Amino acid sequence: MENIILNNGIKIPTVGLGIYNLNDEDIIVKAIDDLGYRLIDTARMYGNEEILGNAIKRCKVKREELFITTKVYGPDRGYKNTKRAIQNSLENLKLNYIDLILIHEPYKDGNEMYIALEEALAEGKVKSIGVSNYNKEQYLNLLDCCRVIPAVNQVEAHVFNRRKELQKVLEKYGTIMEAWSPLAAGKNNIFKNKILQEIGEKYKKTAAQVALKYLISNKIIVIPKSANIERLRQNIDLFDFELDKKDLEKIDELDNGISLFGWYD
Ligand SMILES: NC(=O)c1ccc[n+]([C@@H]2O[C@H](COP(=O)([O-])OP(=O)(O)OC[C@H]3O[C@@H](n4cnc5c(N)ncnc54)[C@H](OP(=O)(O)O)[C@@H]3O)[C@@H](O)[C@H]2O)c1
Repeated sequence: MENIILNNGIKIPTVGLGIYNLNDEDIIVKAIDDLGYRLIDTARMYGNEEILGNAIKRCKVKREELFITTKVYGPDRGYKNTKRAIQNSLENLKLNYIDLILIHEPYKDGNEMYIALEEALAEGKVKSIGVSNYNKEQYLNLLDCCRVIPAVNQVEAHVFNRRKELQKVLEKYGTIMEAWSPLAAGKNNIFKNKILQEIGEKYKKTAAQVALKYLISNKIIVIPKSANIERLRQNIDLFDFELDKKDLEKIDELDNGISLFGWYD
């Protein structure tokens, strides 16, 4: 597994498993023990922190080798509620620290929530902090008042909307971009896309693998979700081939900069 170093010196795996709508403890254990997943992405909103906590307890991999992300959201709004939420997530996950905690989306009082994240960081309850779904303006506003620069901004990113401009700004200040729905959640017929399939044939890889490799080749962390063992295997089997410059340029052509999920920059 390859890693990227965050702005606090901590390593994050370039490929992880997103578990929105994936509530099967056995699959999560298999993904960790048998397939090599180390980064698991949940959120308080998904309602499956406890399931993930059970899987972490059951799996054979040492806690220090895992990278667990969760997110605080609407019902946790406000400084005090966010502090309480972090404590609650630690209990749900049965952990004494969380590797990365994000503000799930920009809220009016997001800056107060962020202060609670900064304090949790100082207390050792979380190792890294960041945001999700922040556009350039929202990110720059946060930079104006935060003490700790977000380690990560998790946003919609896939071959059809690669977020190049946003990534440039994030990189300038030291924040890594992480892609949610890196397979576009199957939209736009991505798994049958001609360009991705043709490139995949050269390397004996599927369109999905090419789409994920494109993102990690551009220094974007990916957290594809699958509840199917064969597809889980595919999605992490990305490190025995490289896309060349021409491949990357061809895939660039798929990017039309439009959200497939109604988010606006
Ligand atoms: N921060 C946020 O606001 C936010 C928003 C959305 C998502 N997320 C995170 O991002 C994760 C992934 O996003 P997502 O689940 O929306 O979309 P995704 O990972 O882009 O796509 C998942 C879909 O693709 C299918 N799939 C997965 N691998 C495949 C493969 N190799 N070949 C063919 N089909 C494949 C899955 O079906 P099967 O399960 O049947 O394989 C599922 O229908 C979520 O689980 C969550 O952790 C975060």
